[in-house]
Amino acid sequence: MARISYDDQTAAAFNAVREVPRDGLSEWKEAVRRHLCPSQGMTLVDIGAGTGQFASAFSDWFDLNVLAVEPSAAMRDQIPRRSSIRVLEGTATALPLPDQSADAAWLSLVLHHIPDLGAGAHEIRRILRPGAPVLIRQGFPDRYEPTGDLKQDRIELVRWFPETARTANTFPSLRDTCKAFAAAGLHQEALEQVRETYPTSLAEFLGQVDSLREADTTMRNLTEEEFLRGKERLRRAVRHAEDTANPEPRDNWLDLLILR
Ligand SMILES: C[S@@+](CC[C@H](N)C(=O)[O-])C[C@H]1O[C@@H](n2cnc3c(N)ncnc32)[C@H](O)[C@@H]1O
Repeated sequence: MARISYDDQTAAAFNAVREVPRDGLSEWKEAVRRHLCPSQGMTLVDIGAGTGQFASAFSDWFDLNVLAVEPSAAMRDQIPRRSSIRVLEGTATALPLPDQSADAAWLSLVLHHIPDLGAGAHEIRRILRPGAPVLIRQGFPDRYEPTGDLKQDRIELVRWFPETARTANTFPSLRDTCKAFAAAGLHQEALEQVRETYPTSLAEFLGQVDSLREADTTMRNLTEEEFLRGKERLRRAVRHAEDTANPEPRDNWLDLLILR
């Protein structure tokens, strides 16, 4: 079971407020290019593809064939239909693909929805050709203070709604993820933090947070009081930004983990 139900309402909210505008993904494009070394016609499986933001980016950027595997019908319905993207029903632990049929796997913000990460890792290994990489976009809780050395407010939602960390800290750690994949024969090759940026202002973000509460697992678990406190924090920051001539673009940092 996913941690939240990705029904029609959630899928529409995800599409509207959780996709990163394409221009804000340029650092992801370069990071993925460096690690994947994409070539035309390569087959990449996007596991838990959601509304297809990365499936369509990978097909546009690198001319890849993308197999977008997604369990929720409502999310699948939002994936753009085009010849380079095949949309399939499935989960990380039951991939509707033959053995050794893919050149890479991509999982963005999905690990915490997989009920048995060990089983998922074995299933992913099964469908990959030997030597093919797994690329994971995730916020690993043990990368942040007090156990790691990064500040957790690199995650934009934690900056404004610090109690979202309560749920984010229950997500699979880097250590447990590497252990689960190592048991399936896939080992850490690289790890870095990658930034995404948003062209919209803080004021526009403030206008989106009610929908975000629908579409984001960590926001859903806030109490009403925590949510309202976060909104007030944002409101103050919006007023401050209005007095600043050129406010910095909004940004968010996540981990990119490569296993091979
Ligand atoms: C936070 S969304 C991320 C969507 C997309 N990867 C992105 O980054 O835009 C998580 C997605 O994982 C899917 N999901 C839930 N359980 C899953 C599972 N066991 N295996 C694969 N995907 C799953 C959900 O339906 C949802 O679309």
